[in-house]
Amino acid sequence: MPMESVPEIMGSKIMKRTISRDQDHGGILSELTGAQGTGKTSVLLAFTDNTITSNPSEKIFWREQMDAPLQTFKLGLEKIRFFVKKDSNVIFRDRNKRLEEIDLNPVYFRDYEELYEIAPNGRASVVFFDNDHEWMKFIHYLRGVGEWVNIFIDEMADIAPSVCSGDLYQRVVKFSNDMGAVRRCMMNCFYNTQTASDVHWTIRKKVMLKVFLPGATSVKTTRVTQKAIDGLDRNSNLGNEAYLDIGGEFGIVRFKNIYKPDPRYHVEAHYKNGKQ
Ligand SMILES: Nc1ncnc2c1ncn2[C@@H]1O[C@H](COP(=O)(O)OP(=O)(O)O)[C@@H](O)[C@H]1O
Ligand SMILES: [Mg+2]
Repeated sequence: MPMESVPEIMGSKIMKRTISRDQDHGGILSELTGAQGTGKTSVLLAFTDNTITSNPSEKIFWREQMDAPLQTFKLGLEKIRFFVKKDSNVIFRDRNKRLEEIDLNPVYFRDYEELYEIAPNGRASVVFFDNDHEWMKFIHYLRGVGEWVNIFIDEMADIAPSVCSGDLYQRVVKFSNDMGAVRRCMMNCFYNTQTASDVHWTIRKKVMLKVFLPGATSVKTTRVTQKAIDGLDRNSNLGNEAYLDIGGEFGIVRFKNIYKPDPRYHVEAHYKNGKQ
């Protein structure tokens, strides 16, 4: 077997840390960045898969983008379940049927308590609210549930954008407190964003684990240089490489699972009356 390099050993160690559960440690807030199509969503799915396998007794909440093909189908139907807020505006449309409305048979929930109660362990609960910003309130609620819980947000900028004012600004600042508390909570939150600066800086400041995929831009707070990121291998068969940085320690990993679109499920979620 070939010897592993020091960055590879560190990479595996950091990956293990993401699934270890130690009350003294608390959870992890992680940001994934990279160029379009380099696997940001896929890496989110990889972390979801790892959580399901390593910690099957935990609940997982997944935020999908609206008006785009649902990504969690790539995990396989047995690992996902759809939840929609009762009386909300959310509908599903099938790309294979010219965006005709279809029944995805989601489970409808009244409030956070009910959602939390019925969300299964060891599966990704894919949740749809009235609007994207509601995720901030839901995550605040999850802080108080008293057991390990995992949250995955595809495209954080839709939820806590860098440009916001008034009421939304107040909500984002409050939310950044919750994000800052993750290291003391039994909560893991992994999010990705195409452009890091699109996510509000009060949240970015709290990030503990940074994942740099090919095409990512280095930041001041890491020792992972732009040159190193630019040297990451892209391989659509073996999987793309990424740098992981947690608290100044960094390593390299290759995300070997390739999450390809499932041609059977070209389903999108929409708000019935257009954008909220
Ligand atoms: N680990 C991987 N390494 C390389 N390519 C991958 C990997 N996982 C998925 N892919 C391929 O790349 C495509 C884009 O991945 P995706 O996660 O949607 O990227 P992004 O969210 O960064 O735009 C996928 O449809 C898949 O075919
Ligand atoms: Mg994506």
